[in-house]
Amino acid sequence: MDAIIRVAGMSAAAGRYRREGRTIGFVPTMGSLHEGHLRLISIARKRADTVVVSVFVNPTQFGPGEDYESYPRDPGRDATLAAGAGADVLFLPDAGEMFPPGHRTWVEVPGITNVLEGKSRPGHFRGVATVVAKLFNIVRPDVAVFGQKDAQQVAVVRALAVGLNTGVEVVVAPTVREPDGLAFSSRNAYLSAGERAQAPALCRSLEAARRRISSGERNGRKIIDLMRQIISEQPSAAIDYISVADPETLEDVRTLRPGSGVLVSLAVKIGKTRLIDNDIIMVE
Ligand code: PAJ
Repeated sequence: MDAIIRVAGMSAAAGRYRREGRTIGFVPTMGSLHEGHLRLISIARKRADTVVVSVFVNPTQFGPGEDYESYPRDPGRDATLAAGAGADVLFLPDAGEMFPPGHRTWVEVPGITNVLEGKSRPGHFRGVATVVAKLFNIVRPDVAVFGQKDAQQVAVVRALAVGLNTGVEVVVAPTVREPDGLAFSSRNAYLSAGERAQAPALCRSLEAARRRISSGERNGRKIIDLMRQIISEQPSAAIDYISVADPETLEDVRTLRPGSGVLVSLAVKIGKTRLIDNDIIMVE
């Protein structure tokens, strides 16, 4: 596996693959790789001739007071894991080169970025959309793989991939979980043992929502109340939001309609660690 640090080096390599007629699969990450990331890499491996994985802790998607400085970083371990999962190239750009002083070009995806994560983390999706657009321009992938774990990010990336005529096919991979249901996340490393034991409540609340919907509940508010109750049983949990929404527009769904899917999502702080999870549930 090659490691590339400079933007010009990555662009030149991408140009070479294209001239050789090789398709490019791309998995953008912020590193600290776990099973979820590795699943994305193996999906890209199956769909393209050359697999590029980027590791870049993007400063523009962290708000003031968030964990940009303390976000876990371990490029040596990331390189071993990415190579093992089938990556051909690890792209590790430098923040100063991606966002040099005076950077003033931003990608905004209004409408779907002022709710849920976007409401709690103002500016987050402007940072995500901008870095993803830049990475798409540098790597010029045929296909890019993202995780359902970040459902709103998927909606934003899909919108920008189409809206900016990138020609990139966006593939979404299911959320990979620990045996007890906790979704893999780089931020799980922040949890103490006591907090880690409470964290599967997020997944349990989603399972309860799924069961309640399949037994006929059609009132979005009642589903949220049920989930709220399950989370509230955890002593260190503080709910940021619980939502039942349309998977594309992300607008609240008050009454579930048969034949449609709903995005059930939540953000909960366990101690100081903010965790998110979601599920798309089909209404029969
Ligand atoms: P990061 O949190 O490192 O996640 C990189 C990719 O892995 C995202 O597409 C995310 O949805 C996916 N992922 C994370 N946990 C997962 C899990 N448990 N199962 C399946 N997929 C999972 O998301 C970002 O980085 C950044 O916002 C980025 C897109 C790289 C832009 O900076």
